[in-house]
Amino acid sequence: MQFERKHILDMESLSAEEITFIIDTADRLKEISRRPVKKVPTLRGKTVVLFFYEASTRTRSSFEIAAKRLSADSISISKASSSMVKGETLIDTAKNIEAMNPDIIVVRHSSAGAPHMLARLLKTSIINAGDGMHSHPSQALLDIMTVREKKGSVKGLKIAIIGDISHSRVARSDITGFTKMGAEVVVAGPPTMIPKGIESLGAQVADSSDDAVKKADVIIMLRIQKERQNSFLYPSDREYSKIFGLNRERMKKAKKDVLIMHPGPVNRGVEISSELADGPYSIILDQVTNGVSLRMALLFLISGGIRNADTD
Ligand code: CP
Repeated sequence: MQFERKHILDMESLSAEEITFIIDTADRLKEISRRPVKKVPTLRGKTVVLFFYEASTRTRSSFEIAAKRLSADSISISKASSSMVKGETLIDTAKNIEAMNPDIIVVRHSSAGAPHMLARLLKTSIINAGDGMHSHPSQALLDIMTVREKKGSVKGLKIAIIGDISHSRVARSDITGFTKMGAEVVVAGPPTMIPKGIESLGAQVADSSDDAVKKADVIIMLRIQKERQNSFLYPSDREYSKIFGLNRERMKKAKKDVLIMHPGPVNRGVEISSELADGPYSIILDQVTNGVSLRMALLFLISGGIRNADTD
């Protein structure tokens, strides 16, 4: 298939065929990261700007590594190191970046819809690296890639997403992405952290975290997004951990071949015990590894794929 998209903004706008094509491309690019010299000339001469208005470890570094492995030039701009601290608006900052002719701007912003707005206002390709509580498409794509790699297929699997669903862009993008790929998604967590109408995205709400764990082929644990909550939504970390956290006791109810995932950052001892985060069911670091090739695929495809690649 020909990938014709200029932007990657959310999972809603990607078809199952496009998701498969992106992940197939990422699978093919993965071996580059295993070479002694981890670099190909494919995006030589292209410029990627990483514009991160919010903190990030995994997304930012993997986009940067992905750009470098494809020989693109990349620069990073954070809120703290930009003139936004002097009062410059997001739009003015973005227009000034665009005036320097980058090919792709990767944006993370605390406001939902910021990347969509930039995609409307600018001519440059935009990749959403996480916008507020709305969407995190590259995370959902790497999650689907990792499950497909480990289980062979996503279709028919039961995916349990447990934790702070309300404030999680990963939850929204994973629900949309996994259901598009034919999986069944169940969510669980404190009632104060399950948004009304979540069923409209295609997820079912489990009766309890035990119930969600028992039936799941894949368990995705989420941290409590305290930075996005403006009131106390649970009594204490200890109580949360006991009722909703993944620990040795709760895992006794899980299937023998279950996979444990987490988008990170992990709050050990709250949503998941260290023993399970580091244990044999955990594929948390596989997600991070796949994040590089998945983001290489996005940069490659958004740049026009093989048509615009440097093949020297
Ligand atoms: N999963 C994720 O978005 O992690 P970072 O916030 O570290 O990028």
